[in-house]
Amino acid sequence: MVPHRSAQWYAGTDRNAYIHRAWMRRGLAENAFDGRPHVAIANTASDLTPCNAHLDEVMRSVKEGVYQAGGVPLNLPVVSLGETNVRPTAMLWRNMAAMATEEMIRANPVDGVVLLGGCDKTIPSLLMAAASVDLPAIVVPGGPMKTGTFQGQPLGCGTDVWRLSEETRGGTLSEEQFLRSESSMISSRGHCNTMGTASTMALVTEALGMTIPGIAGTPAVDSRLLEHAHETGRYIVELIDAGRRPSSIITKGSFQNAIVTLAAIGGSTNAVVHLLAIAGRLNIELTLDDFDRIGSRVPLLVNLQPAGRFLMDDFQRAGGLLSVLREVKDLLDPDALTVTGRPLVSYLEDARIWDDEVIARRNSPIAPEAGVAVLRGNLAPTGAVIKPAAASTHLLQHRGRALVFDSIEDMHARIDDPTLDVDADSILVLRGCGPRGYPGMPEVANMPLPKKLLEQGVRDMVRICDGRMSGTAYGTVVLHVSPEAAAGGPLGLVRTGDEITLDVPGRTLTLEVSDEELAARSPSVPMAAAFAKPERGWELLYVEHVLQADSGADLDFLRGSSGDRVTRESH
Ligand code: FES
Repeated sequence: MVPHRSAQWYAGTDRNAYIHRAWMRRGLAENAFDGRPHVAIANTASDLTPCNAHLDEVMRSVKEGVYQAGGVPLNLPVVSLGETNVRPTAMLWRNMAAMATEEMIRANPVDGVVLLGGCDKTIPSLLMAAASVDLPAIVVPGGPMKTGTFQGQPLGCGTDVWRLSEETRGGTLSEEQFLRSESSMISSRGHCNTMGTASTMALVTEALGMTIPGIAGTPAVDSRLLEHAHETGRYIVELIDAGRRPSSIITKGSFQNAIVTLAAIGGSTNAVVHLLAIAGRLNIELTLDDFDRIGSRVPLLVNLQPAGRFLMDDFQRAGGLLSVLREVKDLLDPDALTVTGRPLVSYLEDARIWDDEVIARRNSPIAPEAGVAVLRGNLAPTGAVIKPAAASTHLLQHRGRALVFDSIEDMHARIDDPTLDVDADSILVLRGCGPRGYPGMPEVANMPLPKKLLEQGVRDMVRICDGRMSGTAYGTVVLHVSPEAAAGGPLGLVRTGDEITLDVPGRTLTLEVSDEELAARSPSVPMAAAFAKPERGWELLYVEHVLQADSGADLDFLRGSSGDRVTRESH
């Protein structure tokens, strides 16, 4: 049998092997260095990432499973990103977390890794890291929180914050009631319970084949989560023995399954950026157009907030992801594998829908076509995206006057001004929020509606931005406009009063200004002034190397894989 990678550190009688073993003996059994596999558990548990704070308990169950299968489990705390806390935006740090995790997996004497994530950026960063090291890896998603209630109604974590805050601004909910809802919003351990980015990424990861099938979406408080963690611990040892690496599991067909899943569940637009970044780490040719080509034929089957009504514990009760995938089996790649070595489609036979109000059947979908629409035109030469399922139907074809904001601060300063020259047909444009311009591409594209329009009962408008939108948000929002304004994109040339045409069925986004006139314009001065190039540290590295949204907003030098080899000894 070929020795495990960890034997490069531990095997032998020389001084270096002695040092590696001696310091690791604390707490490990005598036989820990007899050639058995060593498994890192990349653990994003952190008190400052409340959605992941319970992952230490999950980690202990993984450990038991690894021990039971004859391996040696090792907790490896890695960079954790709490979506609601981290400034200026967790997305700025996703690539840093991925890079740090990649290097720590590679640098250490381990043969495989179990990845524990939950909150939005944690699973993407772990997958990007694992793809670039390419050691056997399995994800355990930390699971959604249970449903909280307020005034007798279920609360969708995230989505209802936007709704309640707009109602308060519109005068239909008092500030006192708004604040009273705060203690009900987060009802238990676990990540947001809507079909936001965390739930989406957990389910899409299962579709990619990177979890044991059937476990994504298990609520954080459900004892089956610990069972699954235990099972994953046993499986990773098998995976190491089989030499099954991410590069042998994740293929273009896996991304097809992920895109079908993303559409059928009505998932977050953030998954587009994350999947493009993961594909880039594996040198798999995945483009924005693949999302439209594959996803737009897929019916929307899941009735979850923000596009629908229910929440993640309803989703699990109704049958979970496998029951959704059974309905769209013909759209899946039959050969795409999972970590178990079996194709994903081989797990669908027994899956059943138990509540078709939550998970609709193929013959009566919630919407006949879901997915992400990719728009192009003189305002988004390399693409922009919109999630039609979360948009207002009457706005999907719309022409209106632009009202331009040069930065998020500019928008906040003016949006509630009663003299703002805006009506329900106006198109709100927010720029300076792309990967480079903010920096970090924050979730601000679903900008609040002007207060005076809210008071008139307006609840949606066309909004266009080079940033992202929270997966828990909704509205007719065109986002990820590429190239962004700060990278010289035409979004930086729009002026208040210009006409813009959005045509989602035609997949176009057009600034109704002639090419000659555009060529004569210079980028907005206030927008350029709002961009101050960072002087040092990660932010400087980031703005100098970040790619645009249509390439996954990874750093240019992090694309591809370096494998698991480390050639030099530490002493
Ligand atoms: Fe962590 Fe929503 S804030 S998943």
